[in-house]
Amino acid sequence: MKAVIIPRFGGPEVLEVADLPKPQPGPGEVRIRVAAATVNPTDISLRSGRRPTNLPPPYIPGMELAGTVDVVGPGVSDRRPGEQVMAIVLPLRPQGGAQAELVVVPAESVVPVPDRATLVEAATLPMNGLTVRRALDLLALPAGATLAVTGAAGAVGGYAIQLGKVAGLRVVADAAPADEALVRSLGADIVVPRGHDVARAIRTVVPDGVDALIDAAVQGPTVLPAVRDGGQVAAVRQWTGGTERGIRIHQVAVSDYARNQAALDELRRLAGAGKLTLRVAETFLPERVAEAHRKLEAGGVRGRLVLVF
Ligand SMILES: NC(=O)c1ccc[n+]([C@@H]2O[C@H](COP(=O)([O-])OP(=O)(O)OC[C@H]3O[C@@H](n4cnc5c(N)ncnc54)[C@H](OP(=O)(O)O)[C@@H]3O)[C@@H](O)[C@H]2O)c1
Repeated sequence: MKAVIIPRFGGPEVLEVADLPKPQPGPGEVRIRVAAATVNPTDISLRSGRRPTNLPPPYIPGMELAGTVDVVGPGVSDRRPGEQVMAIVLPLRPQGGAQAELVVVPAESVVPVPDRATLVEAATLPMNGLTVRRALDLLALPAGATLAVTGAAGAVGGYAIQLGKVAGLRVVADAAPADEALVRSLGADIVVPRGHDVARAIRTVVPDGVDALIDAAVQGPTVLPAVRDGGQVAAVRQWTGGTERGIRIHQVAVSDYARNQAALDELRRLAGAGKLTLRVAETFLPERVAEAHRKLEAGGVRGRLVLVF
């Protein structure tokens, strides 16, 4: 079977498509014939060697996919061959990640695709949707609380706005001028200019500071002045630089929710109900994966880049 591989760390040029043995599902696992797998910032970290791992290369990147159930392993009762599904995949395991024709995952990482979503659209939901679900669960904000989101036009940021609204929060989101309409269309109540001065911009519209902030732009401690005394921040990359005024920093790891099937199923339901927008920027054949990495690294991509198998 065909798979994208990282044979050694480096730039996009190291990416290859290889022919690998078919993986076999064990007890409690499902094998999926992949139709679509997204390219995410974490793939770039894996490719460039910024994600620590003791596993030897080659690595198969990719953390989310959609496709058709191919084989169910012993003990799996909730999936059947032929079913259209989406899944989160943790690539730092011997079997590798999502960017392959056939991928084996635990059954708890798999749910049906949302109503009316194509497989390409469905592939954009599991990993980033679960990341935001995890962040919001850590923050545990009551309805009516104010949440700020940096990187709001991105995949994590967009779901943070939309899941924040589902939770009854008031959402303040950042945007470049060209993204303002997009960020408003996702449901942001207040839009502020993005950039190094975002904390001051947020304080201008929320003088007491927001209750919590999801830092999808990975701006780090410069966002702290936006948060009220004793508030909270959800960090999606390693937070360095401490905190102030009793603000709690939560380190978000989507791997904590990789087997949270109930959370993934709720994301499916919300997308099917039109409350989550599945955004696809462009599709690529696996042989063009290096081009997808270059585009993502250049910035400015709105919606996900998706490999179609
Ligand atoms: N911890 C976890 O488990 C986990 C899970 C998922 C994602 N993540 C991380 O979450 C982050 C966001 O992921 P994503 O998929 O949402 O990325 P994305 O789609 O590229 O979105 C990032 C957004 O932030 C903006 N941005 C970047 N630097 C900025 C800055 N200095 N000021 C203001 N805006 C800035 C980007 O704008 P431009 O495109 O214009 O640069 C983009 O709109 C990544 O670092 C990713 O690795 C972590």
